[in-house]
Amino acid sequence: MIYLDNAATSFPKPKEVLAKIDKCFKSIGGSPGRGAHLTSLEAGRVVLGAREAMAQLLEAGNPENIIFTANATEALNLAIKGSVRDGDTVVTTSVEHNSVYRPLEYLAEHHQVKVMRAANFSNGDLNLAHFKELIEKSPDLAVVTHASNVIGNILPIEEIAAITRKAKVPLLVDAAQTAGSVPISIEKMGVDMLAFAGHKALLGPPGTGGLYIGPGVAVRELKQGGTGGASKDGQPKIRPDRYESGTPNTWGIGGLGAAVKFISKIGVENIYLEENRKMKKLLSGLERISGIKIYGPNPSEQRVSLVSLRAKKIDSGELAYLLDKNYGIATRAGYHCAPEAHQTLGTYDTGTLRLSPGYFSTDEDIEAVVQAIDELSHRTPLR
Ligand code: ALA
Repeated sequence: MIYLDNAATSFPKPKEVLAKIDKCFKSIGGSPGRGAHLTSLEAGRVVLGAREAMAQLLEAGNPENIIFTANATEALNLAIKGSVRDGDTVVTTSVEHNSVYRPLEYLAEHHQVKVMRAANFSNGDLNLAHFKELIEKSPDLAVVTHASNVIGNILPIEEIAAITRKAKVPLLVDAAQTAGSVPISIEKMGVDMLAFAGHKALLGPPGTGGLYIGPGVAVRELKQGGTGGASKDGQPKIRPDRYESGTPNTWGIGGLGAAVKFISKIGVENIYLEENRKMKKLLSGLERISGIKIYGPNPSEQRVSLVSLRAKKIDSGELAYLLDKNYGIATRAGYHCAPEAHQTLGTYDTGTLRLSPGYFSTDEDIEAVVQAIDELSHRTPLR
């Protein structure tokens, strides 16, 4: 199989990740913080090690401000619903994933929250003048993706954070598509909250993700329950306990910790350059095919490793199906859970085919998909 769906979930994972999960599976039977026996203590060390590695990778300062969640969706729900109150106003963009769009729609419907969307240009770029205009209305929260999972453009978070900071508006960044493959320094960027997915460019297992919450940022927890300590008291106020009720996914978090260490050894900058090289190779191959239209920013601009396209003669769903069935190439077609991005791109009627090479994709994988799309895009559709 040729796997080109890394924007959804990265595959394969580094062998260090598999080895760590295997080790946890075989020898870490306890629950972290729940028991004083050896295996519970070891489980605690696994989770702490992953938290420290994550804080270091994101240059986030104190690891206690990294909260582990099941995925980026859970992290975004915690950040949004834990910050916003009835009748509040939120500013966001027009390329957000459903993990931002739907919680905001829910709050608008049930809690009288007003959502204002800054415009994006058709190459995905945020209209910064419009964003600034909306931020100057003093909303209670701003939510911005770091990179669109459909278009691939990277948003200028430092510039965006300068605008929100000046207006004293807390900024939440959705880094689901960037953490692990685009350098992130929370300290330098000056963001208040940042959500990440463990299973995408961070190269960890599914069921892992998290949220950075800045030291002064007040967020209500969305669930209460056992945290392993201070059992006679109410829900703890200390981090990360306040937000992590329930036995965590120790084995998955262990795998994520190993993945982060793997990434740190290579260097995120080097991963970005390697993925960018493959994405450019893909784009230059695709540009020679007459039967397709390619979307997104210029290859020279900052972008993550994904390409959205449509073939003139063949529907994207059918293209993905034939790539899989006839060539063994895994891609994703449709809306990629981000209908707003398709409205911005002008592809809302049919969606797109998305190709997303990962760190482990080879040049041969890229050549094979270009050739397959060349062959398929000129054929007569099935229907
Ligand atoms: N959000 C994921 C994607 O872009 C699942 O495919």
